[in-house]
Amino acid sequence: HFALIPLQLVAGFIKSPLSQKRLTQDSVELYCEAIGNPIPEIQWWFEGNEPNETYAQLWDGARQDRVKINATYNLHSTSTIYIANLTGDDSGTYECRASNDPDRNHLSKSPKVKWIRSQANVFVIERPDIQTQFTSTHGKLVLSCNLTEPHSAIDGHEWKYGDKILQTDTESSSVTTYEIEGKKEEHSGIYQCIFKTSPEIKGEINISVVPQVVAYKKSEHGNEGDTGVLTCKNPSFPPVSSWTWSRNGEQSIINGSGRYIIKSSGNKTELRILKLNIEEDTGDYQCIAINVFGTGEATVNLRVRSRLAALWPFLGIVAEVLVLVTIIFIYEKRRKPDEVLDDDDGGSAPLKSNATNHKDKNVRQRNAN
Ligand SMILES: *[C@@H]1O[C@H](CO)[C@@H](O)[C@H](O)[C@H]1NC(C)=O
Ligand SMILES: *[C@@H]1O[C@H](CO)[C@@H](O)[C@H](O)[C@H]1NC(C)=O
Ligand SMILES: *[C@@H]1O[C@H](CO)[C@@H](O)[C@H](O)[C@H]1NC(C)=O
Ligand SMILES: *[C@@H]1O[C@H](CO)[C@@H](O)[C@H](O)[C@H]1NC(C)=O
Ligand SMILES: *[C@@H]1O[C@H](CO)[C@@H](O)[C@H](O)[C@H]1NC(C)=O
Ligand SMILES: *[C@@H]1O[C@H](CO)[C@@H](O)[C@H](O)[C@H]1NC(C)=O
Ligand SMILES: *[C@@H]1O[C@H](CO)[C@@H](O)[C@H](O)[C@H]1NC(C)=O
Repeated sequence: HFALIPLQLVAGFIKSPLSQKRLTQDSVELYCEAIGNPIPEIQWWFEGNEPNETYAQLWDGARQDRVKINATYNLHSTSTIYIANLTGDDSGTYECRASNDPDRNHLSKSPKVKWIRSQANVFVIERPDIQTQFTSTHGKLVLSCNLTEPHSAIDGHEWKYGDKILQTDTESSSVTTYEIEGKKEEHSGIYQCIFKTSPEIKGEINISVVPQVVAYKKSEHGNEGDTGVLTCKNPSFPPVSSWTWSRNGEQSIINGSGRYIIKSSGNKTELRILKLNIEEDTGDYQCIAINVFGTGEATVNLRVRSRLAALWPFLGIVAEVLVLVTIIFIYEKRRKPDEVLDDDDGGSAPLKSNATNHKDKNVRQRNAN
């Protein structure tokens, strides 16, 4: 016979915070996890590097709201302290304290109460200045980053475009360059240079161009009465802030007016023309994109065919089939005398079916036995 008696368990850590190095303006996250019964409470305390400083408790919203604490009390207790936009004054020792003593928050009883502690250091290093440069000459683009005040040893460099690593080396120079063949219009975007130091130092170079608009198809065909769909997109950086459409270079088409519907989403735009009309809708349409650097456009030519024109290929096939059928019919008619002769040989067919009938009977008899 068993009775479930809740065990009183002293708090213990299962995960302790880890020391970290960061640059000013970065953020840092420390994590702590404890078990015990009842579930322990977790607190965060901080001691700065000045000799006169003592431990002070940290709260959610402390340091002008740069401190966030997220705790969960569910089977275990977990707590994450997150400090944004670090400054040199955030350097110091961070302590995770856990206790499940029922008297833990009675200040008068405090000497007896046991809090277990786990510490991590956060080093905040002044963010060094990176001078970035971008030049475009003789069909070549040169991007360079210059770390003007190296802090720790440089173990190499890396160039990235989004998540893609473009170039990497293990040199210790404080200057790194990356070259691209081609025009800047073809290579716009956000490039990153990374100095492999501890912690890593990153610089950013933006290659910005006016929108490099392309038509999804340079010419579109539609049938009279159908819906015509014209599409343009902009793969370049920076993104488009607004799209407009116009016809034959005239004033811009208003969304929802007449038979027009415009749908634009970020780097793509679509013009739909309902119930296409040959006279009114055939022509050149311009999609115009605007970003902070200027304007770009592309032209789509729309051709509207009559319903009947759409039928012509089908009618052609029908006519071909008819001609073939007629030819075969005439040919077969002429062969008729031969076929009469063939019929004599065909006499074997009923014989064959008789034979199978016999076989069937045999089987049935055998089954009966
Ligand atoms: C510690 O000393 C510095 C000057 O050395 C002073 O600015 C700071 O306010 C002191 N901090 C505390 C907590 O007393
Ligand atoms: C707090 O932590 C929980 C569990 O880890 C997570 O689901 C939640 O999104 C966090 N909340 C914030 C504000 O970070
Ligand atoms: C970060 O802190 C600096 C001063 O330390 C301030 O000038 C800057 O605006 C802050 N940045 C953000 C994103 O809060
Ligand atoms: C890097 O910056 C330093 C300091 O501004 C300058 O003296 C040096 O010439 C720069 N190097 C390059 C390759 O631009
Ligand atoms: C590059 O572009 C991004 C996105 O528009 C922007 O947040 C960032 O500040 C730009 N960087 C520089 C160095 O101009
Ligand atoms: C358009 O932007 C989206 C994200 O907003 C991106 O995933 C997509 O690749 C972009 N398309 C082109 C053609 O650049
Ligand atoms: C045009 O109007 C339709 C509905 O009438 C709407 O769904 C669409 O978002 C509008 N497009 C723009 C670019 O405002």
